[in-house]
Amino acid sequence: MSLLITNIGELFTNDAHGRELAHDAAVVVDGDRIAWVGPATGAPAADERIDAGGAAVLPGFVDSHAHLMFAGDRAAEFAARMAGEAYTGGGIRTTVGATRAATDEQLRHNARRLVGEALRQGTTTIEIKSGYGLNVADEARSLRIAAEFTAETTFLGAHVVPAEFQDRPDDYVSLVCGPMLALAAPHAKWVDAFVERGAFDEDRARTILLAGKEMGLGVRVHGNQLGPGPGVQLAVELDAASVDHCTHLSDADVDALAASGADCMCHDGSGRTVATLLPGAEFSTRSPYPDARRLLDAGVTVALATDCNPGSSYTSSMSFCIALAVREMRMTPAEAVRAATLGGARALRRDDLGVIRPGARADLLILDAPSHLHLAYRPGVPLIRDVIHGGRPSTAAAPEHSSGRPSTPAAAEHNGAASEHHRGRPSPAAGTTEQDRGRPLGAAGTTKHDGVPQ
Ligand code: NIG
Ligand code: FE
Repeated sequence: MSLLITNIGELFTNDAHGRELAHDAAVVVDGDRIAWVGPATGAPAADERIDAGGAAVLPGFVDSHAHLMFAGDRAAEFAARMAGEAYTGGGIRTTVGATRAATDEQLRHNARRLVGEALRQGTTTIEIKSGYGLNVADEARSLRIAAEFTAETTFLGAHVVPAEFQDRPDDYVSLVCGPMLALAAPHAKWVDAFVERGAFDEDRARTILLAGKEMGLGVRVHGNQLGPGPGVQLAVELDAASVDHCTHLSDADVDALAASGADCMCHDGSGRTVATLLPGAEFSTRSPYPDARRLLDAGVTVALATDCNPGSSYTSSMSFCIALAVREMRMTPAEAVRAATLGGARALRRDDLGVIRPGARADLLILDAPSHLHLAYRPGVPLIRDVIHGGRPSTAAAPEHSSGRPSTPAAAEHNGAASEHHRGRPSPAAGTTEQDRGRPLGAAGTTKHDGVPQ
């Protein structure tokens, strides 16, 4: 099926070969790919048409950092922080206890709820980490369930050393590199480690990340979140796709990121190891924000992601992160939107995402606004009017009872991870709560959607 989106007031393409922002544009989608981009006057016919009504259209958000495999919440810990307590990461063990005690169905239900929540807010690709199991069985099942929702799954057995290994961290490293990795790797694309005082030191993290690499996993790193440390340098040394948080950086860290990949054939003048900034974490832990301007000015590739997790950043909203990045981190709105789309794609080493050009995945957002500026200018306002997800308008798919189609487990499909049983399964799925049921994925907007051939 082909689909023409016309009457686009501002098309935010991220396309290096064309104009980043086009006015009065149209896009044609064929199947799950973008087939044509150009001025509205020259648009070819398609099976269906959406009139964007002069709204802005941008690529779907690529949330390259989320911890969705957990049970329980830590609202009381948040309240204590707002009353002056510091964030140390110590609460991770609370979530480990709740996660181990949960059934598979409870973990699946929670992940599905959050993936659906993110999709309704424009996130068409989401990375999901394990890291709240921290034993062989619970890490493996976390990843097995995560893989039902996305192809971008990350093994984070090296989140913290669990309580039962408190005095034997090297034994835990051996467990992670041995039996845990063996059972996790079949369900994981990436390996990650939290390189921080109180979590994993440089040598232990290197051992784990190299073991993951040996098993064919790509490397990502949590680094330099709570203080200065070796995370960034280790990430660059191991050609990590991304080092995430980057709140406390030395000049040498910034230089290393900017120069990363300079010897690679694929080098395009900006750093290959992406600095992924997670301003939801600084918001929720009341910490100083990273300086995105410093990174951008140095030539570092920057991504924005939510870090969605029950402890340090319980938001699934990329729009919220964009607003924070602009207000608190000295990014322009265009830089922030680019970081939340193309930046996320770079952080996942995906060249089919985060860009509107022929051949890319047809993941598109139609805003309830005339330009991308409104995402930062109107914080907290639900501006995602329509989500085109793998070529299909989510608004049309959402009301399960009326469309007869499963409304999500979206992420699995858009990442190409969908197995047939997800596609065809009647969905107790994404909109699992009562208020979700029957509600279109985007808020009711003014978009006109004609199901008639042009
Ligand atoms: O990315 N920094 C480490 N891990 C998470 C927080 C996990 C938690 O507090 O539960 C993060 O912020
Ligand atoms: Fe994280």
